[in-house]
Amino acid sequence: MSEKKLIIAIDGHSSCGKSTVAKDLAKKLSYAYIDTGAMYRSVTLFAIQNGLLNNGNVDESLLEQKLPEINISFNYQPELKKNETFLNGVSVEDEIRGMEVSQNVSRISAIAFVRKRLVELQQEMGRVGGVVMDGRDIGTVVFPSADLKLFMTTSADIRAQRRFDELRAKGEDVNFDEILENVKLRDHLDSTREESPLKQAGDAVVLDNGQMTKDEQLNWILDVLKEKQLL
Ligand code: DC
Repeated sequence: MSEKKLIIAIDGHSSCGKSTVAKDLAKKLSYAYIDTGAMYRSVTLFAIQNGLLNNGNVDESLLEQKLPEINISFNYQPELKKNETFLNGVSVEDEIRGMEVSQNVSRISAIAFVRKRLVELQQEMGRVGGVVMDGRDIGTVVFPSADLKLFMTTSADIRAQRRFDELRAKGEDVNFDEILENVKLRDHLDSTREESPLKQAGDAVVLDNGQMTKDEQLNWILDVLKEKQLL
């Protein structure tokens, strides 16, 4: 394996399994894994906890003032493929996946000063390389010269079906059509927002994982790295 510690950017639509493949890859390469969605979710939780978000309205001037007080860190345990997110030293991994955060994170992630701050933190986290970072703007904004840029996608129907199966397995009573609508809405919000919309970098490699197992996806990426003589 080459000595060079790479920066690997994984962008793509919601619910297409970016974090699963990113964690597998980070484990395989003994790299750090940075879940940038968790960072936007943590700022959203901070806004909720501090009364800065009411009925979808954000007190932007107070949030901007308080932004320097927000400290986000990760503890990734590769052997368990478990990633824990900490907000000001407190584990928030479960809370940031809850409904309240999920419903408000699009609003927070559209704010320019929030993006500017989180992008700076992400650039600092990846500065020395040896990272797999997943998000929406990693290959386009955070690391435009990443060693490898992957753009993951698959059809909205397949993503909705996966989400439906996951929630059903957790015992939730869910409706497929509602989930499909939600997946489509999030695609629309992510790709049409003014600040750093989701778009494929010109030099990204597209991974459509609709018909692939986890292992096939990992091997596919390792093959791309070898072809590019990065491994
Ligand atoms: O990947 P996720 O679903 O945990 O992301 C949560 C939200 O944050 C989602 O609305 C997209 C947004 N996001 C973003 O704008 N930029 C990133 N780099 C990562 C996530």
